[in-house]
Amino acid sequence: MQNSNEDTNPALASTRGVSESLPSYDDAPIGIFDSGFGGLTVAREIVEELPNESIVYFGDTARCPYGPRSQEEVDGFVQQICTWLVERGVKLLVIACNTATAAGLEHAQRTFSVPVIGAVEPGARAAARATKNRRVGVIATKGTVESDCYPRAIRHIDAGITVFSTATPKFVDIVEQGIRISNGPIEDLTSKASKVYIRPAFQEIAQDYLEPLRRCGVDTLVLGCTHYPMLKALIGGVMGHGVLLVSSAEEMAKDVRATLALRGQLASPDNEPTHEFFTSSHAVDDFQSFGSRVFNREIGRPVHVDLPAW
Ligand code: DGL
Repeated sequence: MQNSNEDTNPALASTRGVSESLPSYDDAPIGIFDSGFGGLTVAREIVEELPNESIVYFGDTARCPYGPRSQEEVDGFVQQICTWLVERGVKLLVIACNTATAAGLEHAQRTFSVPVIGAVEPGARAAARATKNRRVGVIATKGTVESDCYPRAIRHIDAGITVFSTATPKFVDIVEQGIRISNGPIEDLTSKASKVYIRPAFQEIAQDYLEPLRRCGVDTLVLGCTHYPMLKALIGGVMGHGVLLVSSAEEMAKDVRATLALRGQLASPDNEPTHEFFTSSHAVDDFQSFGSRVFNREIGRPVHVDLPAW
């Protein structure tokens, strides 16, 4: 009975046709980049979500931070690095940097024929889903806050959510200092119980930045910068237990999976994945040491790349 129905029902016949042409796979790597090594935490989520995938990671450490630079300049960097990654044959681009997403995502999506996933929309979605009182805070670099991309993305999902944003640029320096102070696995920094950043000078800065947001009564705070998940203990200490801290990495990894699955471009089950790391800085040892802490294993030696001035 079921078979004869399939044979006569055009809808079922066409579904059957699609499934017959599947599965199709693509073992080309995923290209990921950040202004430095904060985006390695996004790369790790992608590797955990999609262990068969190869990745090519580019950290533009020589030009980090992007936060204080103009949108125009950062947009140029995005074009330059995406071109470099596309020339390496990547099948999808991930802009694992909020500031770069704010300045250059749309331009990159228009320029390149491979899909481009940014950091803002996934974080906005996670926040819109999490908030109960529909009051959301966003902390990010100056560039990201001035672009207004998070409030727009959150209100696009739920126009009734009130968004309060603050630029917290000193947090980037604080994170960099903490990375040098501690040398254990990255969980020593990202844990809510971490003591690495619990120092009076850092707490004073956090208090100044975050107290106004706390007083706004937000129940969800977007950590809108790749560095900030390392400050969960410091930030959570000021915001209090009732405020949920949201970052984009996990959502981005899910978006990468969904996009590749939809296009029949997931890596084949027998692919032997490679993880390659490149940096514009000469401090290759620092990159390798931090990368190994993020991945909880020795990563291969990053390769220095000289990008022409843009
Ligand atoms: N990666 C940047 C971001 O997510 C933070 C560091 C910077 O300013 O470059 O916004």
